[in-house]
Amino acid sequence: TRRQHTPKGLRRPPGPRGLPLLGSALELRKDPHLVLTQMSRKYGDVMEVTIGSRPVVVLSGLETIKQALVRQAEDFMGRPKLPSFKYISNGHSLAFSYECGEMWKARRKLAQNALKTFSIAASPTASSSCLLEEHVTNEASYLVTKFLQLMEEKQSFDPNSYLIVSVANVICAICFGKRYDHDDQELLSVVNMNTEFGDVVAAGNPTDFIPLLRYLPNRAMAAFKDVNARFNAFIQKIVQNHYTTFDKEHIRDVTDSLIGHCQEKKTGEDVRVQPSDESIISIVNDLFGAGFDTVTTTLSWCIMYAALYPHIQKKIQAELDQTIGCERRPRLSDRGILPYTEAFILEVFRHSSLLPFTIPHSTTKDTVLNGYYIPKDTCVFVNQWQVNHDEKIWKDPSSFKPERFLNAAGTEINKTEGDKVVIFGLGKRRCIGESIGRWEVFLFLSTILQQLERLCARNMATDWLGSIVSINCGESLGVYQGRVSAVDQVSQ
Ligand code: HEM
Repeated sequence: TRRQHTPKGLRRPPGPRGLPLLGSALELRKDPHLVLTQMSRKYGDVMEVTIGSRPVVVLSGLETIKQALVRQAEDFMGRPKLPSFKYISNGHSLAFSYECGEMWKARRKLAQNALKTFSIAASPTASSSCLLEEHVTNEASYLVTKFLQLMEEKQSFDPNSYLIVSVANVICAICFGKRYDHDDQELLSVVNMNTEFGDVVAAGNPTDFIPLLRYLPNRAMAAFKDVNARFNAFIQKIVQNHYTTFDKEHIRDVTDSLIGHCQEKKTGEDVRVQPSDESIISIVNDLFGAGFDTVTTTLSWCIMYAALYPHIQKKIQAELDQTIGCERRPRLSDRGILPYTEAFILEVFRHSSLLPFTIPHSTTKDTVLNGYYIPKDTCVFVNQWQVNHDEKIWKDPSSFKPERFLNAAGTEINKTEGDKVVIFGLGKRRCIGESIGRWEVFLFLSTILQQLERLCARNMATDWLGSIVSINCGESLGVYQGRVSAVDQVSQ
């Protein structure tokens, strides 16, 4: 029936017909990014699939995605009203809530400023160039000591469970001025719920798209509610604590800076569009939530690729040896002189496409894209994986080759190539933690590889990284390898 409302002379995007009630939901159950990439070959860069009862427009192709998210940014900047989203940050989420008008813009600005002040801005107090560098250096050093101790005591351990606490500690320091021990049960119960969160937020979660399912008992959704409630309670407690110790002359972290903003606002003159205190404070929920899972996942992928391709790992280590040596630790300012390491990280982002889709978008008004009509409030998926594996822009996209991002001499990153990797979204909804994320991954990875190689070489002649990963993460290595080979299948 929706097709009948299409204005004269315009067409709706093409797409598969799908089953009644389910649409294409069954096909999309597993690896939706791969299925939708295949479909896009047949239907094009702008296609419409029905998931459950909901029409979803799926965007592929770098130029089409830029057209929508950058050139027609206002039209495509909304978020859909998906049932699961209302549990996130008590319905006030900056990233997931439907509201995207002036109020949202004001909050996004606040978030960006507060985040910057306590992470990448030059710091007068820190002994490092910025607070982010200080926090990551501390956590990475701890991690190295911990890894060494574990290798000595147990020979085998799962690096991921330590990475996640270290990375969470960095965002905790920025947001809450707080650090947790690696065996802190409260923190562990909050950071270890990724899969419960990820499964529901993943593109095309059936309950969000098939209304009938909402009335049936649903274990995944119940777990999701529970996870969000626990998460919100954890943060609420920290925020309460900040309120009682708040001193406007001494702003300690992002939470203080948001509290300060709420108080200033009350005495200030500008009353036009003021977000509520609750919606300002809840910004830390988004920052903390978005700030550790993505970076931890990226680092895990980095370790997996380094273990899968020992010759590449050796090249990174050789670069570290030649430029930094072993007398000092890597710093953020070394990024320019470690082009191979940078290229490796870019290739990890591209090849893994660890976030195959952005968060779903939605149209804010009736619009036309590449000649196709898309009505207001249509849910839009942006297939980042497709861009990162498009044969039209990448040579041999299924092979893992950091060199593709380097100039012929291997001395510099080719920026034009690097910019073609889409992993942080684009346009008005682009990730606000992009610099933090990229810098953090660089500093953790280079510090771990430099220090561990140096220290392990003393005791073990073996490929330490390969052995940790294969002994301890046999299962996850299988999963990663599975994804890597799934990539190959689609590319053929
Ligand atoms: C949104 C990726 C790290 C905060 C996003 C989006 C992606 C993304 C794909 C959705 C863009 C869209 O919907 O079009 C990543 C990756 C990261 C990372 C790959 C690390 C490697 C971070 C960090 C923070 C953060 C460290 C905070 C400290 C956010 C926020 C949003 C967001 C608040 C929502 C923006 C909005 O809806 O306006 N990120 N992110 N991210 N990210 Fe990140």
